[in-house]
Amino acid sequence: MIEYKSELKKILLVDELDHLEGQLKTIAQFISEKDLANFFIDSIYLKAVIQHIIDDHWLQHKNTGIEVQFDRFVKKFLNAELKPLLFLHSYFLSSNIEGMHTAIKVLTEIEKFLSIFIRSKSAAFQKMFLQISLLRMSDLYELEHQLNSAEKKNEGDARLSLYRSFDVLDEIFELEYLLNEVPEINQKERLYEGAGAGVQSSYATTVLALRYLNLAKGSRFVDLGSGYGRIGLVVGLMRPDLQFTGYEFVKERVEIANKASAHFSLDKHVHFVAQDLSDPNFKIPDAEAYYIFDSFTEGSYAVIMAKLQEISLHRRVTVVTKGNAKLWMKNKFWSEPQEFSDGNLCFFRSRARPVV
Ligand SMILES: C[S@@+](CC[C@H](N)C(=O)[O-])C[C@H]1O[C@@H](n2cnc3c(N)ncnc32)[C@H](O)[C@@H]1O
Repeated sequence: MIEYKSELKKILLVDELDHLEGQLKTIAQFISEKDLANFFIDSIYLKAVIQHIIDDHWLQHKNTGIEVQFDRFVKKFLNAELKPLLFLHSYFLSSNIEGMHTAIKVLTEIEKFLSIFIRSKSAAFQKMFLQISLLRMSDLYELEHQLNSAEKKNEGDARLSLYRSFDVLDEIFELEYLLNEVPEINQKERLYEGAGAGVQSSYATTVLALRYLNLAKGSRFVDLGSGYGRIGLVVGLMRPDLQFTGYEFVKERVEIANKASAHFSLDKHVHFVAQDLSDPNFKIPDAEAYYIFDSFTEGSYAVIMAKLQEISLHRRVTVVTKGNAKLWMKNKFWSEPQEFSDGNLCFFRSRARPVV
């Protein structure tokens, strides 16, 4: 069996692209499934950290006008962003800024190769791969969250951002919504224009929300306006003990989401339903957690919020908001929000005592 940490280190030290494909083929053949997922996720994480180091290095030079010596400069990252990559510390201390630029190219190739390789595997393999990947991502997002909340950064400071780093997973989920033409643009939808990555919650938001919600076994999770289903798929893989339902009024998106759910055998506990949530006759089902991206017109918000408020009077629930959806939650029905990512992600809890 090949161990990915030493292989990754070797690849970075050799620093060249010529034999990379051959090396990756051998690694992919002899590595364990668990190590393959960690290799993939750590390579993507490493690329984001290196980009952050390059940006910070450039800023320091710009601000001070003094040449910044790389081996000294990089030390501050060892106990922070580079902490999960202890096995690469000696590589960083012996490298230089040109090495960082080459590493970005090498890591981009690794990401491309592995994503094609994983897509060629069976659904069961992909499922296990995604589950291990999401667990590793959860720890990395948590580290990013801790680092960014600990030090107050100034506007314009270089900042590690994993927000879109792992979007390549969409290719494994076959959520190729950037290419997906929805025939009819529904005028009632606020955020349709430019649909694609911009209108899906990132994996970072979803995984962090799930981590901090810490829902009890058997809890129900409802996504109001579920789009292409990223949230449900992540919930289904990470928490097979939860019941997830996503409501979405664009039928094509519901079909894409249900297809992915069935592909990974999640369809016993992850369902996507075609439903216009602004229909006053629709009853939002009881759940322990509801998720709302800022998806609705004012008219739809009025209908949906009234129903959630009614639910909040009888049950202990948490509404998770992304973006400006939080503006609709600042009223007497809901607690003050628990905030993450500078308020981009919020948890609002019902004020009412649960009925026993
Ligand atoms: C911004 S996307 C969010 C997708 C997913 N919840 C996420 O965070 O990744 C919002 C989705 O809400 C859907 N939507 C908007 N108004 C709706 C309504 N009245 N009923 C059902 N779905 C609606 C849109 O079609 C869109 O796919």
